[in-house]
Amino acid sequence: MKKVVAIYPGSFDPLTNGHLDLIERGSKIFDELIVAILRNTEKTPLFSLGERREMMEAMTERWRNVTVDTFEGLMVDYAVKVDASAVLRGIRAISDYEYELQMALMNRKLQPSLETVFMMPAEQYSYLSSRLVREIAQLGGSIKSLVPEIVEQRLREKLEVAVKFQETPKPKRKK
Ligand code: PNS
Repeated sequence: MKKVVAIYPGSFDPLTNGHLDLIERGSKIFDELIVAILRNTEKTPLFSLGERREMMEAMTERWRNVTVDTFEGLMVDYAVKVDASAVLRGIRAISDYEYELQMALMNRKLQPSLETVFMMPAEQYSYLSSRLVREIAQLGGSIKSLVPEIVEQRLREKLEVAVKFQETPKPKRKK
């Protein structure tokens, strides 16, 4: 029987618990799942491609049918290269839908044999995004339970947050 290979593409800057939740779900329905990390060319990522790959590899070691790779250029070209027949994407809320629909339909136009499969992460991750994690960490807030420990540690090292939110002085009030 033909093995179903899927790719899970993304920036993963950084990887969150929501991504891991989706990878676990994907690993259960696909024979092989390749987490494909994009080498961002337009925006400068917080974590280098090597750092993102290392963290992803460490966190996906537990699933035997999950591998990690990097790609640049068109996602559909990469999918063809690795013989993938499906693309896994997560949908958290209605707000994700429009962008994801546009991307899925454009990818279908480019490569009709490639199917996009949407999965929903667990509810507790429905408001979680890499962008918010970066912002919270940069401003000294707690990102515990949003990202794996290895990511939290690397973020802390990278950002060298000097002033914790709790330590900011209270504003002076008029009597
Ligand atoms: O985690 P992200 O940033 O939402 O992932 C977006 C990603 C990497 C899936 C998308 O930007 C992508 O596929 N980029 C590769 C270039 C490409 O194929 N562009 C055409 C999309 S229709």
